[in-house]
Amino acid sequence: MRSHYCGELHAGLLDETVRLAGWVHRRRDHGGVIFVDLRDRSGLVQVVFDPDRAEIFALAEQLRSEFVVAVEGRVRRRPDGTENPHLPTGEVELLGLGLRVLNRAETPPFQLDDYHTDTSEEVRLRYRYIDLRRPEMQHRLRIRSRITATMRAFLDAEGFLDIETPILTKSTPEGARDYLVPSRVHPGEFYALPQSPQLFKQLLMMSGFDRYYQIARCFRDEDLRADRQPEFTQLDIETSFMDEAELTGLMERMIRTLFQQVLGVDLPDPFPRLTYAEAMRRYGSDRPDLRVPLELVDVADLLGEVDFKVFAGPAADPEGRVAALCLPGGAELSRKEIDDYTKFVGIYGAKGLAYIKVNEWAAQGREGLQSPILKFLPDAAVTGIMARTGAQDGDLIFFGADKANVVNEAIGALRTKLGHERGLAESGWRPLWVVDFPMFEHDPSTGRWVALHHPFTAPKDDQLERLESDPGGVESRAYDLVLNGTEVGGGSIRIHREEVQRSVFRLLKISDADAEARFGFLLNALKYGCPPHGGIAFGLDRLVMLMTGSPSIRDVMAFPKTQTASCLLTDAPSAVDEAQLKELALRIKLRA
Ligand code: AMO
Ligand code: AMP
Repeated sequence: MRSHYCGELHAGLLDETVRLAGWVHRRRDHGGVIFVDLRDRSGLVQVVFDPDRAEIFALAEQLRSEFVVAVEGRVRRRPDGTENPHLPTGEVELLGLGLRVLNRAETPPFQLDDYHTDTSEEVRLRYRYIDLRRPEMQHRLRIRSRITATMRAFLDAEGFLDIETPILTKSTPEGARDYLVPSRVHPGEFYALPQSPQLFKQLLMMSGFDRYYQIARCFRDEDLRADRQPEFTQLDIETSFMDEAELTGLMERMIRTLFQQVLGVDLPDPFPRLTYAEAMRRYGSDRPDLRVPLELVDVADLLGEVDFKVFAGPAADPEGRVAALCLPGGAELSRKEIDDYTKFVGIYGAKGLAYIKVNEWAAQGREGLQSPILKFLPDAAVTGIMARTGAQDGDLIFFGADKANVVNEAIGALRTKLGHERGLAESGWRPLWVVDFPMFEHDPSTGRWVALHHPFTAPKDDQLERLESDPGGVESRAYDLVLNGTEVGGGSIRIHREEVQRSVFRLLKISDADAEARFGFLLNALKYGCPPHGGIAFGLDRLVMLMTGSPSIRDVMAFPKTQTASCLLTDAPSAVDEAQLKELALRIKLRA
């Protein structure tokens, strides 16, 4: 039907006759001549219809936005002064000699030739097939495809096998709620959609495949955010007989290759590593955005004696934290700005946001400081805080005091926000590995230990004997890959011995019977010659979001769901027939 893509026409084709096919991007009538910008996935080219050819001209007059047409024509140079330097094909145009309307189109719900960024996402999702015609969306999905092609080529060359695992399966605990699928053949029983292929990829190592990968769909019923979808894609990987250093080294090489080949960017070699403890201490987060140069500084030890219970309480509490964050140039913040930041940390549970403005410390000492809490702080505390934060005249020091997790979340988030809003963040790419995670976290609401990663993650070999006596102090062999403040990947060396797996289950208060019912197949498989193994999964959507500079993972998925997990295009989820329910032995009883 066509000889060229629209975007391919250039002065080298002058006087040649070509055939194009695509969409009418825009039609303009100018002094008896009709101009049509014709669009396909490669770009735009201008087609001119001349009144000399009356029949074609009459047809061209009927063209409207988004009509689908086939055009035959002769490539010619645009008249002097009418070239369009903004368009790759802007030197030439096509003189239309033949025109076929392949399909008409109703007026689209939003203009593609004059697209406004205020078009609501709801409309974009409802008419996704039109939204996806936009060059920006075409570009994103094209980069996504190049990313997966590059990953596949790299892994294939490294001897990885692409193996599929089931979608209708049994629950895998990754910390979210399962999506369930009722079974017709087994009334009252359900499959779970996989939260990840975790257990199957471990079984593939026990099956001797040695190196596995899959671009795998995962399903998690959790609260959605800009970087979370109920259904998302992982580049899922598992290997046998590799330790942490070998595995993370290989994965780093893959990510460097990806950035080099797709973006032409050289990432550092090696990626820096931070322990979990250090990441929390310096950044209040296990996925710090290293583009932001600000750091949290502990000051609890300076405040033990202070007569200000907001600080003294957490300073004396072993689970508490008092952290300072110095903002260079922050003394110019207005009252209103400080109030807004106080509201912001409130989202994370902080009960306030104390601060000291450093106006003229160098010349005036204490008198040169301005703060509602200054009156509570003895000289020694003030001098200590100034020395430790390194604050200079013109800066502002924020304080968070509470349980450590509240301070970390609140001041950690404030750090990133300030860094970006106040223009302190550098540009570019800052990857890092976070390592030495604790195995377990204590959940105060249930009094139970929960796995920080998943329960198949191995504890450090030399800490095995502390598993029962000091679960909170045991570190795991897990690693996360963080890029510019987003967790793009996570994995671990796994437990490969049955007795260790059983003791971890016991610690998590998974009874032997329960373990048997849920993971019996894995526990069994561990008995029949399981090699040491480990792996990782990358959040493909998040990686593509970062690499294309998109604001949300929805923008790099062809057909994403909304914040309330619905698909506006198809109206899923939706009610089903009574007959279908009956077949599945289900009855709907909506709670009042
Ligand atoms: P984890 O649960 O850390 O590990 O997931 C791996 C990566 O997947 C991405 N991710 C998501 N992306 C979009 N929407 C979501 N709802 C979502 N949840 C997670 C993140 C994350 O780093 N089986 C283990 C991996 C392993 O141990 O090998 C797992 O799934 O980028
Ligand atoms: P208050 O005594 O509640 O009036 O608080 C005095 C100052 O301490 C105010 O600037 C509050 O914003 C701040 N503040 C209160 N609670 C905290 C907290 N948990 N962490 C940091 N600052 C706080």
